[in-house]
Amino acid sequence: MTLIRSVIAGCGGYLPERVLTNAELAEMVDTSDEWIVERSGIRERRIAAEGQKTSDLAIEASRRALAAAGLTGADLDLIVLATATPDETFPATATVVQAALEMHTGAAFDIQAVCSGFIYALSVADNFIKAGQAKTALVIGAETFSRILDWQDRTSCVLFGDGAGAVVLRAEEGPGARGILSCHLHSDGRYHDLLYVDGGPSSTQTTGVLRMRGREVFRHAVVKLAQVVNEALAANGLTSDDIDWLVPHQANKRIIDGTARKLKMSLEKVILTVERHGNTSAASVPLALSEAVIDGRLTEGDLVLLEAMGGGFTWGSCLVRW
Ligand code: ACO
Repeated sequence: MTLIRSVIAGCGGYLPERVLTNAELAEMVDTSDEWIVERSGIRERRIAAEGQKTSDLAIEASRRALAAAGLTGADLDLIVLATATPDETFPATATVVQAALEMHTGAAFDIQAVCSGFIYALSVADNFIKAGQAKTALVIGAETFSRILDWQDRTSCVLFGDGAGAVVLRAEEGPGARGILSCHLHSDGRYHDLLYVDGGPSSTQTTGVLRMRGREVFRHAVVKLAQVVNEALAANGLTSDDIDWLVPHQANKRIIDGTARKLKMSLEKVILTVERHGNTSAASVPLALSEAVIDGRLTEGDLVLLEAMGGGFTWGSCLVRW
């Protein structure tokens, strides 16, 4: 049997222009730059313009990823878009992106795993490719969390931002080391109440806003993220010393520091964007990836470990030979 691997052929990211600083937030709620930086490492985040939708951010990031791969929308046969902030209840935001990219065949659908969405989407697309059901897939994480925040709740509104990131996966057969080596996904619905949105079409017929018990989320995050990274290392017969780059979900600098400490990984090997992006949920990992590719840190042959955790709880990791 010929083994098929999913190789990352291009990455792209997009951030809305508007920068919202901690100083501006301190005029909106009872907080300070000092508190936000000390507790989260975040200094600023981007906010989508009025009327700018999740699909608008996704389309821009996708165009950049396709350009980096030297492809157009017509070359794709699959789009998997991860978001917890879709344009509409239906249809899937992925189909809006599909139309904009002039991809008129294949399949496009959304995945919902909140901050772990991109890891879930990458795993789904990788399985489509390995099963021979797709050859060229666009995997997107795109969010407008600014639309589901309670801007009076200082415990949550200071942490999130808007953005989108995308990667193009291409099927490759035959010898070669590049590609997605493994994906590990988990969820545990018992933790619903620690992080959720208090609305939805079938419950309140409103969009709702984010509710979070931050301290408890924090505690679970450090443990579960270290576990799922260790699971990836064990499955591939590796140790953390073998990893060239850790690309973590950018929720909080202290969560990232705590996870790196547990894994005995130097912070020099960790890609960080949280200071400038805040938590962009499903967009954070592909945004961080594309920054590190564009600035030349990630190079061919590097072993790159992606991880994320989010509402549900959901969590997961993907190991990639770049
Ligand atoms: N400004 C000033 N004070 C604040 C703010 C704020 N923005 N928010 C909370 N406080 C106060 C609290 O009211 C509390 O005051 P009290 O002691 O008088 O009651 C005090 O600061 C300490 O609050 P804690 O919640 O204990 O602070 P903590 O050190 O845990 O930091 C934070 C809070 C930043 C939310 C942290 O718990 C966290 O990052 N948790 C993870 C949340 C997260 O990342 N969620 C994203 C989705 S899940 C994921 O992506 C992993």
